[in-house]
Amino acid sequence: MLSISDIHVSYDGSRILRGVTLDVPERSLVCLMGRNGVGKTTTLKSIIGLVKNDSGVVKLAGDDLGSLLPDERARRGIGYVPQGRDIFPHLTVWENLKLSLVIHGAKTNGQVDRVLDLFPILKEFLQRKGGLLSGGQQQQLAIARALLTNPKVLLLDEPTEGIQPNIIDQISETLLKIKKEGTLSILLVEQYLDFCLSVGDSFYIMDRGAIVASGPVAHLNNDLVKQHLTV
Ligand SMILES: Nc1ncnc2c1ncn2[C@@H]1O[C@H](COP(=O)(O)OP(=O)(O)O)[C@@H](O)[C@H]1O
Ligand SMILES: [Mg+2]
Repeated sequence: MLSISDIHVSYDGSRILRGVTLDVPERSLVCLMGRNGVGKTTTLKSIIGLVKNDSGVVKLAGDDLGSLLPDERARRGIGYVPQGRDIFPHLTVWENLKLSLVIHGAKTNGQVDRVLDLFPILKEFLQRKGGLLSGGQQQQLAIARALLTNPKVLLLDEPTEGIQPNIIDQISETLLKIKKEGTLSILLVEQYLDFCLSVGDSFYIMDRGAIVASGPVAHLNNDLVKQHLTV
């Protein structure tokens, strides 16, 4: 569904990504793992078009997205939930959702109901200001907002960061539900190993701007974790 090959990205002349290649097959959930600063967020930004690639190819369902701006890539079917969530704190939950539909010029077509069914807590808090939600609820709002536009691929950047364990479980349950619906492929950036093990199908591990290991999540072993994930 999504494939990127040999992506190189630099910031101010220094190389951040050095030939990143990865595939997100249809209907699968792929975890992109690695320590802080290795280039995970930059990889997602290069897929959605928020950073310029020095070279490399980004393809969605076989189409080269290289010449498209971020909003055009979003319209082609890439949903993006940035690290740190980035919801509008002064707008209500409902306004946050509504705004996403307006920005993307999307028709609702029952999407709102479907998405609210996935996140019952949001349904309860539709009139509450985004900024008054807990971190976990804001994360759910950010994911819901991305799902509203009915993407083919969802890019999620560290959804568990700074979130309480019981809410992490809710988020993993939601991802498993979305997976079961079978309409979406997900690329999940995640440092929390247990979360990857519970929701992921396959993994890639990055180190210093390159992919250093990959495989089905069942192959994530102690050696790999020690070598590339723990500090
Ligand atoms: N806007 C930027 N300008 C300059 N350097 C950046 C910028 N964003 C990230 N970097 C650097 O790029 C590297 C990779 O960052 P990032 O992709 O955010 O890593 P990760 O998400 O794996 O923690 C880091 O060394 C970081 O300091
Ligand atoms: Mg990051």
